[in-house]
Amino acid sequence: MKTGRGVGPTDAAGGPARHLPVMLAEVLAHLAPKDAGRYVDGTFGAGGYTRAILAAADCRVLAIDRDPTAIAGGAGLVLDAGGRLTLVQDRFSELGTVAQQMDFAPLDGVVLDIGVSSMQLDEAERGFSFRRDGPLDMRMANDGPSAADLVADLDEVELAHVIWTLGEERFSRQIAKAIVAARAESPITRTLQLADIVSKVVWAKPGEMHPATRTFQALRIAVNEELQELVGALAAAERVLKPGGRLVVVTFHSLEDRIVKNFLSHRSKAPSASRHMPQAEGPAPSFRLVAKGMVEAGSEEVAGNPRARSAKLRAAERTEAPAHPDGDLAGLLPADLSQRRGRRRN
Ligand SMILES: C[S@@+](CC[C@H](N)C(=O)[O-])C[C@H]1O[C@@H](n2cnc3c(N)ncnc32)[C@H](O)[C@@H]1O
Repeated sequence: MKTGRGVGPTDAAGGPARHLPVMLAEVLAHLAPKDAGRYVDGTFGAGGYTRAILAAADCRVLAIDRDPTAIAGGAGLVLDAGGRLTLVQDRFSELGTVAQQMDFAPLDGVVLDIGVSSMQLDEAERGFSFRRDGPLDMRMANDGPSAADLVADLDEVELAHVIWTLGEERFSRQIAKAIVAARAESPITRTLQLADIVSKVVWAKPGEMHPATRTFQALRIAVNEELQELVGALAAAERVLKPGGRLVVVTFHSLEDRIVKNFLSHRSKAPSASRHMPQAEGPAPSFRLVAKGMVEAGSEEVAGNPRARSAKLRAAERTEAPAHPDGDLAGLLPADLSQRRGRRRN
């Protein structure tokens, strides 16, 4: 492995990093970038992973982010990379199409760092934070329905369903009821307004997680269709990685990790054969696990970056076998939210 030209390992895209890349050493170790390789960073963010990949080998990176602010912030890094980095604003579920359109496939590696960046969380105007007042927005790409739209449009049962499935919030029904009562008085348009409504029905001891944490997580995941996006990206990676190409995914909560775990476990299992049916049935494994089980951040990193505490990394290597048919992916999602989205209250 050679050090790439023109890209230093320290600061991130567009100036000093505000987002500390999580499990960077482990990501690089599992991705194993090599000279002349082609890598997709599906979650560019502040460019922490991309910069490190470019510095680790004389390779090329196609970096994707759905957030136009992240793409704009990467302009300096594109210049520094001297033709080895291309930045594209898109959803990572489209990474296969983007790579093919740009004549960048097949790939030697795909990395995904799921969730929101510190910049998105810290910017009150983006509406992700229950601690800073801002418009109740939460859209990473500034398009489609916002969190305020969901809170205004879903009926009580749908709201409870979203908060329960995507926030794993046991007070989901009480929260949905409180939201419906509050919006009958006046529209819920601000983050602190919603946090206040939730805090009145979710009981938390001082020092515990903020009572609105799970509700905000649920709305954010629903607004950005994050789980559907993840499933789409895993399937796309399976199609465009070359044999020996690596897939590395870092997740931050159990819903996401379960999807990655189930996908990789399904794709890496040999088809079953038995005494009665010696001819094994089903597609051959399309992945081989590189990390057995999941890898977590070391205590030193967690001490310096609390976000790393919940991070889980899974990694696998593409085999020679063809990609599995897409049809068996629906079961990876906890519930069919796509049908619930867009339904309006009477
Ligand atoms: C945790 S940050 C990535 C940080 C990055 N690894 C770094 O080191 O700076 C996640 C990024 O992924 C982006 N993102 C989330 N979901 C996405 C999706 N479905 N498609 C494309 N980008 C997405 C967010 O906009 C955010 O910038």
